[in-house]
Amino acid sequence: MIKIAPSILAVDLINLKDEVKLVDANGAEYIHIDIMDGHYVPNITFGPNIVKSLRPVTNKILDVHLMISPVEKYINNFIEAGADIISFHPEADDKALEIIKNIKNKNCKAGIAIHPNITIANVTKYLELIDLVVVMTVVPGAGGQKFMDSEVSKIIELKSIRDQQKLNFEIEIDGGVNKETSQICKNSGADVLVAGSYIFSGNKDNYKTLIDSLR
Ligand code: DX5
Ligand code: ZN
Repeated sequence: MIKIAPSILAVDLINLKDEVKLVDANGAEYIHIDIMDGHYVPNITFGPNIVKSLRPVTNKILDVHLMISPVEKYINNFIEAGADIISFHPEADDKALEIIKNIKNKNCKAGIAIHPNITIANVTKYLELIDLVVVMTVVPGAGGQKFMDSEVSKIIELKSIRDQQKLNFEIEIDGGVNKETSQICKNSGADVLVAGSYIFSGNKDNYKTLIDSLR
């Protein structure tokens, strides 16, 4: 079954603990944490402290998506804070290969995130080393944007490379996921769906229905 990763970017932070407990109890597999630095993307969100604070709140997978540049000097802080998976944009640091090795050496899962400007050909060399590929279906930097249909072919391409080369990474889709676009992602080969505004702008009593409607 496809996994759901609610993105806390869409949560009113005053309620963060309760909201994470709610999506946990209602079946979310991952908790997606968007880190933005005001440099790789225009917005600023959180640092490693948010991962540290959430670690005792849930046993679900803490799925950290770094939208920062440079990347390398912050990796250990996120690992120590309790991240289970760390994804980053490889073009944001000239040490991408070392970063992947560093994450994996510390028993954490490593992912790469693919900006709409980046092709699969740009990132093929990383695919045998990583655990997750995040296909961005919006320009990274904000929640609540419209799903970019133009990115769906990347899901299909990744699935075909994975099958042909017998690789193991999961394919996660991030941006504009809702009841309709989730089906396009699923049919194209997605394993994990990130959803921020679709879940958290809904009614708390309906989180189970909202999460299940994406599967
Ligand atoms: C965008 C972030 C996403 C964001 C998705 O830069 O990477 O994870 O939270 O939000 P929605 O689901 O509202 O598009
Ligand atoms: Zn994200």
